[in-house]
Amino acid sequence: RKRINIAIDGPAAAGKSTVAKMIAKRLSYIYIDTGAMYRALTYRALQQGIALDDEQALISLLKDTYIELRTSPKGQLVLVNGEDVTNIIRGEEVTNAVSLVAKHPLVREEMVARQRSLAKNGGVVMDGRDIGTHVLPNAEVKIFLKASVEERAKRRHAENIARGFPSDLETLKEEIARRDRIDSEREVAPLKKAEDAVEIDTTSLSVEEVVERIMEIVNERI
Ligand code: C5P
Repeated sequence: RKRINIAIDGPAAAGKSTVAKMIAKRLSYIYIDTGAMYRALTYRALQQGIALDDEQALISLLKDTYIELRTSPKGQLVLVNGEDVTNIIRGEEVTNAVSLVAKHPLVREEMVARQRSLAKNGGVVMDGRDIGTHVLPNAEVKIFLKASVEERAKRRHAENIARGFPSDLETLKEEIARRDRIDSEREVAPLKKAEDAVEIDTTSLSVEEVVERIMEIVNERI
């Protein structure tokens, strides 16, 4: 069977990573979380007190930033220059700053080069905002996942509560909507469905149903 590339895009908290991981597992493909790469850089920028609008400083920081996405028995790990940042990059501080870092063209150019290199041999499930439109325009399968802001905030809220984190539904709604707005309105590679992507509205679907739909599409192409 052919080892294809699968692009999964969509707005914040639409369930992309959950679904992408499951698809990768079924196919024994590599899962690449491109959002984690932007989050990792944002973490370092905050740590070093770099202004988030200083593109030159961010790009030189990125050049010294080795980001490793590792699949371990405990799940997906994110390492930055060897430091395990898996949990910290999901925190509020990084989440609320990441879209400001990700809008800089030179930052994106370098990230996209790294992402393409990871996918060059095929057998990759990559999730993000611009994978189908820009990073892997020739991906054999392109999926665009969406769900209402209400539903996405509710899912994130339930996740937070289950983990014992403080959480406020209204605040989550505002943060998700704000991040989507910045991601959709930026000049370079904004969040947008690729013309040839299959759109799946997950608002009233279970994770298993979404995975099954995507697997049907994948099975037609491999
Ligand atoms: O997917 P996740 O929510 O972790 O992504 C975090 C942020 O990284 C997004 O809100 C967006 O600003 C940025 N991002 C991006 N392009 C991608 C993946 C993520 O701009 N391909």
